[in-house]
Amino acid sequence: MLDFLQSLAKWLESTSLGTGIRTTGIYPFVQTLHFTGLSLWLGTNVIVDLRLLGVGNQRQTAAELSRALWAWNWIAFALAVLGGFLLFSATSTLYVANPAFQFKLGLLVPLALIWHLVVQRRTETWGREADAPAVAKISALIEMLLWLCVVSAAVEIPSY
Ligand code: HEM
Repeated sequence: MLDFLQSLAKWLESTSLGTGIRTTGIYPFVQTLHFTGLSLWLGTNVIVDLRLLGVGNQRQTAAELSRALWAWNWIAFALAVLGGFLLFSATSTLYVANPAFQFKLGLLVPLALIWHLVVQRRTETWGREADAPAVAKISALIEMLLWLCVVSAAVEIPSY
């Protein structure tokens, strides 16, 4: 499996996309794209999670807030994934062999994403009243912890 990923990474790195990002000085702009996307993504997730936990403006329910932020939430995710993929394409062979990157992309991001989808869907019912049920609060807390794990794994990538 790792051999297959390595050959795919080798190919991606040698394309004009990977080479261009590595050699033309646009890497910091691509980083900005990734960081802008993920800031907005984490922000729109955490604001709804906090609302489920009872923090914030009590005039708007968590369900209303989640609905209002839905489009921004998924636009942000698309930007984060695009930026992440472009960063990855520059030196993919190194990332594929990096344990922190493997842990982030292979386990933590899929897990946090699935959890987010469940929480986002359930917020329609959990978040109807001003005070969300205990299961909603626990799920919101878990979601915030999962994204914190993703960020922690990501910041460890350069250490390997
Ligand atoms: C949406 C969830 C994601 C979050 C919260 C996230 C978070 C982060 C953070 C905080 C960093 C900065 C690490 C540092 O420089 O200290 C980072 C870097 C990076 N991310 Fe993501 N990321 C996400 C998704 C992705 C995806 C989907 C990919 C790949 C397709 C990706 C690929 C990368 C790469 C290649 C770097 C550069 C690592 C380095 O060399 O420093 N990320 N990410």
